[in-house]
Amino acid sequence: MTCSCQNIRNNNTRESLEILEQILLECDEETNLITLLQKVQNSYGYLPENVMKEIAIKRNIKEAKVYGVASFYSQFRMKPIGKYLIMLCQGTACHVNGSAAIESALKDILDVSEGEITPDGLFTYINVACLGCCSLAPVMMINDQTYAKLTYDKVNSIISEIRGSGK
Ligand code: FES
Repeated sequence: MTCSCQNIRNNNTRESLEILEQILLECDEETNLITLLQKVQNSYGYLPENVMKEIAIKRNIKEAKVYGVASFYSQFRMKPIGKYLIMLCQGTACHVNGSAAIESALKDILDVSEGEITPDGLFTYINVACLGCCSLAPVMMINDQTYAKLTYDKVNSIISEIRGSGK
């Protein structure tokens, strides 16, 4: 078994610390680490390694504690993501209704593996647990938008539409 900390440490992207400085100004010392990491992820899109190190320094806590919390909770991402985050539901209802085929469609259409960014920087897809709209299975969300009763053609047209919109 490989420690997930290794995956975190393999990401060498260095992000500006200015955003973190602002977040720390808005959070008092009592703000718990999970809340702080959520704010960091909302701002950076993920948890950059150099930012986590800086949090440890600024909060006077061990780096291992920051990495430990970040890797324990599935809500936290250790790698940058594309402009559009596709969250494909793999909950029971979606699984029964063909989420595996939708995952194959995404891999085929985007030509990336789960968690990777497409070369145009637009998309990252990840598998997630139930999105809470099981009657519409199979379902995915792209950023804040929900897409239901997916088929290969539907996924293809959604991705093409986003690519074509130039957003
Ligand atoms: S199982 Fe997919 S939305 Fe609930």
